[in-house]
Amino acid sequence: MPAVPAQVRIVEVGPRDGLQNESSAISVGLRIELIERLADAGLTTIEAGAFVSPRRVPNMAGSGDVMRALQRRPGVSYPCLVPNDTGLDAALAAGCDEIAIFAAASDTFSQRNISCGITESMNRLGAVATRALDAGLRVRGYLSCVLGCPYEGAVAGATVAALAHELSSMGCHEVSLGDTIGVGTPHQVRALVDEVARRVPVARLAGHFHDTMGMGVANVYAAMLSGVAVFDTSVAGLGGCPFAPGASGNVATEDVVYMLEGAGVHTGVNPERLTGVARWISALLGKQPMSHIALAARCAGLPEDGTP
Ligand code: HMG
Ligand code: MG
Repeated sequence: MPAVPAQVRIVEVGPRDGLQNESSAISVGLRIELIERLADAGLTTIEAGAFVSPRRVPNMAGSGDVMRALQRRPGVSYPCLVPNDTGLDAALAAGCDEIAIFAAASDTFSQRNISCGITESMNRLGAVATRALDAGLRVRGYLSCVLGCPYEGAVAGATVAALAHELSSMGCHEVSLGDTIGVGTPHQVRALVDEVARRVPVARLAGHFHDTMGMGVANVYAAMLSGVAVFDTSVAGLGGCPFAPGASGNVATEDVVYMLEGAGVHTGVNPERLTGVARWISALLGKQPMSHIALAARCAGLPEDGTP
């Protein structure tokens, strides 16, 4: 049996991917409190915001205020999404030290998401990455629609591998492979990771699975068997992309932590505290948590406010 990594790093994307898709307005104060509670639960990489058009993604407006007001903790990183030079200017002004640039493996999704096709986006992002690296920032890369596009359907693994390689060559320390609409299966995940790993070392790949078809945890496990040791997850399974119709939330952090702890993989996350955060944010957003673990806590009669 292939070995699983001894240690996995979780990139908590709830405050960004999770909240960007919420229909109600979320205050800067609540976003900060969510980030603080996630850090209290032991998460050490917390995606804190996105410097994108406030007209297109209203809930990410004020990301500069979030970054400026946050009491940043040593040992915790707070990357933010940056799509272009305007976004980078705002990220630098807010004192960000890590950004994530994002592209897609589907031309139509790229157009809908960032208003330009793949080729133009890569040119744009190359310049942004160079500027950010010159300014001393760490740069992560995202590639969306790696297992399917809501507009174009199937996406070729060779396209994903070539674009992941391009992002890596721009200086991204890690490339996160996004199943944006959550249609991939474990078998497909393994085949894709193995193909991409021929162009980008697997140690520099991350998995970003949305849970539309309920395959999220299984897909994380499948990617682990292919050597991936970094996963993007969202507390309470919040999330989705406003430009990917039909996509549901990210695989829930607490479900992934439960699976990992059961496999003897160290995450550094306190499961009870994390489940408390999942229940707290779900109650505040007026929704039922989408994770199995948080629902199990509710069935066990634990308090709704997330107190363990
Ligand atoms: P653009 O090329 O200028 O064109 O922006 P546009 O028509 O899309 O937007 C124009 C407006 O955005 C103008 O303002 C610009 O000034 C403004 P308006 O005239 O409407 O008042 N603008 C900006 N404002 C703030 N910050 C900026 C900025 N740039 C332009 N940086 C842009 C291109 C990419 C900025 C825009 O299309 C946009 O913001 N799109 C939203 C992208 C987004 O946030 N998508 C969701 C995140 S990606 C995701 O969820 C996938 C991921 O989770 C992985 C996965 O699941 O696969 C990462
Ligand atoms: Mg996503």
